Amino acid sequence: MYARAAGLEPARLPRHVAVIMDGNGRWALGRGWERFNGHRRGADTVRAITTECAKLGIPRLTLYAFSSENWTRPASEVEFLMDLLADFLRSELPTMLENNIRLESIGRVDELPERVLFELANARSATAANTGTILCLALSYGGRDEIVDACRKLADQAARGALDPTSIDRTTLQSALYAPQAADVDVVIRSAGERRLSNFLPWQAAYAEYVDHPALWPDFTVADFRSCLLEYQGRERRFGAVPTR
Ligand code: IPE
Ligand code: IPE
Ligand code: MG
Repeated sequence: MYARAAGLEPARLPRHVAVIMDGNGRWALGRGWERFNGHRRGADTVRAITTECAKLGIPRLTLYAFSSENWTRPASEVEFLMDLLADFLRSELPTMLENNIRLESIGRVDELPERVLFELANARSATAANTGTILCLALSYGGRDEIVDACRKLADQAARGALDPTSIDRTTLQSALYAPQAADVDVVIRSAGERRLSNFLPWQAAYAEYVDHPALWPDFTVADFRSCLLEYQGRERRFGAVPTR
């Protein structure tokens, strides 16, 4: 089996991996290049890691591609990232189809430019029937915004009389998130050695294991990804209970 050959325990693979792809700018600046070169190379890493998840049979991979805070970057960088995203969605479609990958997105996607929305809709519909790994791109995503949007949705239902406020529980809130069916995040992986969540999936990752890796995202390899999964597999998850061993 592929997972075992990769040095991983097949039965203990995470169901949902979330990755904070960080260090593109540093990678480029370290070479005396402009930051955007790092983003371009980072897209190659996205392809490699996504394909690896498909081969391992990991059901869901959420990638932090553009945060709600990233809009504060210089307009030229934002513009470049949007172009890159549109190109990526178009050029990666054959690879996604080949690997039975289904594309999804979370975030305030309506804030994205028209050309990105077009490619996103196209890739989503072209891969909708695929049954393998779900690649979920977090775009214009902020965890606090997601919870605010969920609250608005529920408040609206309550105001229309369709929801009894006293019946609201965790399941109700989960149902109002951007991707309600998604399993909880098992492991958050962050490249470039940073150790923070940066507003990524606070609800879904409430009990996730956190693994950081020193490689800058354009240098982050499949072997690095496997080592993060191995680290995850070595953790004991207690969920607040007493240890089992
Ligand atoms: C991650 O790399 C890509 C995005 C946030 C879009 P950065 O651009 O954050 O790279 P650093 O952190 O400046 O090195
Ligand atoms: C988080 O990285 C966002 C993405 C990876 C898209 P940032 O580089 O934007 O986060 P901070 O600013 O270091 O927290
Ligand atoms: Mg960064």
